[in-house]
Order: sequence, then C-alpha cells, then structure tokens
Amino acid sequence: MFAYRHYFHAGNFADVFKHALLSQLIISLQKKDRPIVYVDTHAGLGRYDLMHPWADKNKEFNQGVSQVFDPADYPTAMEPYLRILKLNNENRLLRWYPGSPVIARSLLRSSDRLVLNEFNVSDAEQLRGVVRGWPRTSVRIEDGFSLTKSVLPPDERRGLIFMDPSYDRPAEFDRVASSLELGLKKFSTGVFAVWYPVMNDEVTFRLIRKLKTRGNKLILRAEICLSKTKFPGLMNACGVLIVNPPYQFDALVDVIGGWLLPRLDSSGEGRLINQLID
Ligand SMILES: C[S@@+](CC[C@H](N)C(=O)[O-])C[C@H]1O[C@@H](n2cnc3c(N)ncnc32)[C@H](O)[C@@H]1O
Repeated sequence: MFAYRHYFHAGNFADVFKHALLSQLIISLQKKDRPIVYVDTHAGLGRYDLMHPWADKNKEFNQGVSQVFDPADYPTAMEPYLRILKLNNENRLLRWYPGSPVIARSLLRSSDRLVLNEFNVSDAEQLRGVVRGWPRTSVRIEDGFSLTKSVLPPDERRGLIFMDPSYDRPAEFDRVASSLELGLKKFSTGVFAVWYPVMNDEVTFRLIRKLKTRGNKLILRAEICLSKTKFPGLMNACGVLIVNPPYQFDALVDVIGGWLLPRLDSSGEGRLINQLID
C-alpha cells in the first residue's frame, strides 16, 4: 500500500529547507508562555540513519544536509536547526538525520504537547520506539488528512499543524486543501504549515485559492528553486505554505533561504520565492 519511503530522500535539500523553517516556526510560537500543541500529520520515522541502504542508494543528502552540516558561519536564524543536527551527530561526523518529530521535540518545552501521526504501520512502530519516554507525546496511526477533524481544535488553543505528505498518489493536493479547509474551520487561529513539491505555479495557486476561500487568512509562500540544469530529472523546487504565519516570519524566510540557496545550489541559477498573500 505504501510505495513512498522517506529514507530515500532523508536529508535532501527539501528536508533542509522545510526543517530550518519548521524550527523557526516552533520558536516563534513559543514567544508567549502558554503551552502549544504541535501536530505532525505525516511524521515519518522520526530519525534517519544516512548509512541505511535506502538513504545510501541515491545519496540525496549529499546535495542537502551535507552542504550545511557544521558550518563555520551562519545567521542566528539557522542556529536552532544546525544545533539539532550537531546534537544528533557526535564527533562532527554526519550520520543521523533528525526528522520533523525529533526537531520538534528538541525545541518544544515540557509543557507543550506533540501529536505525531504516521499511517504506515511499521514506520509508526519505529517512530514509537524513537519517542519512547518523551513527555506529552502521542503517536497515532491514521490517515494524516483526517487529523484536522480528529484532533482540532486543541485544548491549548495555540499550536502548529505541520502537514508533510508524500504526494505519491493522485489528488494529494486536493486532499491537502480539503484537510486544511476543515482545519481552518475548526481552529481558525492555528498556524498551518504544509510542504509541497513545486509541480507548476498553477497547482500551487489552485491550493492557495482554495485556502483563501476559507476565512481569507494571511498566507506565506516560501519556495526554494534549484537550477534545473544542475539537477536534471530530479525534483528541483519545493515550498512551504504557511497559513496564519507568525509576525514578520517572511523576514526569517529571507535570511534562512538566502543562506541556504548558495549552499544547496552553487550554480547561481537558483532562486527563492518569499511572498505574503493577504
Ligand atoms: C515526507 S514523509 C514525512 C517526513 C517527516 N514529516 C519529516 O519531516 O521528517 C511523508 C510520510 O507520510 C507517510 N504517509 C503517506 N501517506 C500518509 C497518510 N495518508 N497519512 C499519514 N501518513 C502518510 C509516509 O509513510 C511518510 O512517512
């Protein structure tokens, strides 16, 4: 049933971009003392061994995390993500890539709550092993698109819903839109972040238009596009749509994207899109 395995892509440029932004989203939500909930609808395994044969097959991490691991200089906005990378790797040797659950747990406070969901049963069991002993954490096994129905609104009334589907089935964009539409109806003040591969602008705009019809929320579109000629035949662009972005989050996207782009694509032909849509 599940053809998609994130192991083949662990630590690639898309992971680096989304996780650097995810780190800052979590931090932005903690500016107030009140606890938050972090909901990860497509959580994956939690942690990836880059020496695993599936990660090693195409070595996508070579064009991703390997380019940013343990740098000499970096902006403050990159510090949380880079620190978590180092914490997961001893002696400055890159072997382990932290997935979104591990990144979130590293930044959340003991009063915050994690709801992690993974539909692939064997992956979810591995994730359960990774999260064993974590406070206020649950692992669910259900269709990630149904979480906006089953877990919202949260008691905390503050939180981040991170949606990171595999897009390996037709109509996945439509399912994202429907799930977010319902999520916004039930939790209109929540911050929703959804990762997507850039197919073409029309697909992205159709998703944005659908979300705008649901309460006309502010949306931030953050995309990183690598040069097509340098990376032929591969996914070369992806983005994160953030509904209800934290105040001035676009400035952080500029700093993070501006630092990552030349490291992930040295051709100089890549570009960043950072667009507030209100
Ligand atoms: C891109 S990966 C997630 C990576 C993870 N969020 C991270 O950043 O470390 C997508 C995951 O969604 C899972 N998946 C696929 N279809 C799903 C569904 N309908 N509901 C929940 N999870 C699903 C896959 O098994 C895969 O682990």
